Amino acid sequence: MSTVEIYFSPSKTSKKVAERIADNFGRKKQTWNLLISEPKKELKSDDVAVVVMPVFAGRLPKTARERLSKIKAKNTPAVAVVNYGNAHVTDSLLELVDLLNDNNFNVIAAASTVSHHSIFNGVAIGRPDEEDLSKIDDFAKKCMGKLENGEGLTSKIPGNRPYTDYKQLPFEISCDETLCTFCYDCISICPENAITEDNPAETDTESCSRCTACISVCGEDARKFSGDAFESKKPIFEKANSERREPEFYL
Ligand SMILES: Cc1cc2nc3c(=O)[nH]c(=O)nc-3n(C[C@H](O)[C@H](O)[C@H](O)COP(=O)(O)O)c2cc1C
Ligand code: SF4
Ligand code: SF4
Repeated sequence: MSTVEIYFSPSKTSKKVAERIADNFGRKKQTWNLLISEPKKELKSDDVAVVVMPVFAGRLPKTARERLSKIKAKNTPAVAVVNYGNAHVTDSLLELVDLLNDNNFNVIAAASTVSHHSIFNGVAIGRPDEEDLSKIDDFAKKCMGKLENGEGLTSKIPGNRPYTDYKQLPFEISCDETLCTFCYDCISICPENAITEDNPAETDTESCSRCTACISVCGEDARKFSGDAFESKKPIFEKANSERREPEFYL
């Protein structure tokens, strides 16, 4: 009888949201980090899963989706959360709820939470902040109540089927070789094996999902998005998404 936190969190904000919800449940915790591995374990019917995924182009990240779909559940209650960068959730929450229910989870509650944008880092700086976390605590307590009373999800989840097409972002990641200390942390964390084993400066643009894990893990700030396409889009995107959006909860 555990709370199992399941997340894919390249820039670590989805991890923060998952931990916050799971801590509120006050049970023994397990953590399944889908960024670094494919869990081979099964959930039990008396576990509760807290599944938090970032939004990539209005969808779930492809690798996260693949890894999540391999987890076996036994009508296990689940709280489904997508964590987005103050722009758009689009169909991602519906996609997550559908995927979990199709895989024998029993989604009892869902949410979209707002966090610092991992690519356009002028958007939603400092989020989730205290106001967000207090709303998340409130939501977690309501989820506990639903678990105790055996209640299912009654709210309608926003989004459309078929889901919007997944679009790869056209931006590229560069590595400043003068800063790189060849620690290879970025190579170990990359979920797509997109960074060349003996040269962290070389990233395979085809396989890179732009997830940001390598940027976030690099202690030398050697890796970043760069190029004309990124530099010209950044101010436009940041202006268009400067207004604060709020988390939404579905019970
Ligand atoms: C490839 C990619 C695509 C993204 N697409 C969206 C999006 O469609 N809407 C949005 O609001 N945020 C988007 N974001 C921002 C992330 O969803 C957001 O920053 C999230 O908090 C990242 O979670 P993490 O910190 O766990 O990695 C995107 C980020 C990445 C890396
Ligand atoms: S994490 Fe940073 S310092 Fe380490 S190998 Fe990668 S780019 Fe170089
Ligand atoms: S190289 Fe691409 S896929 Fe690999 S960690 Fe960096 S952003 Fe993610």
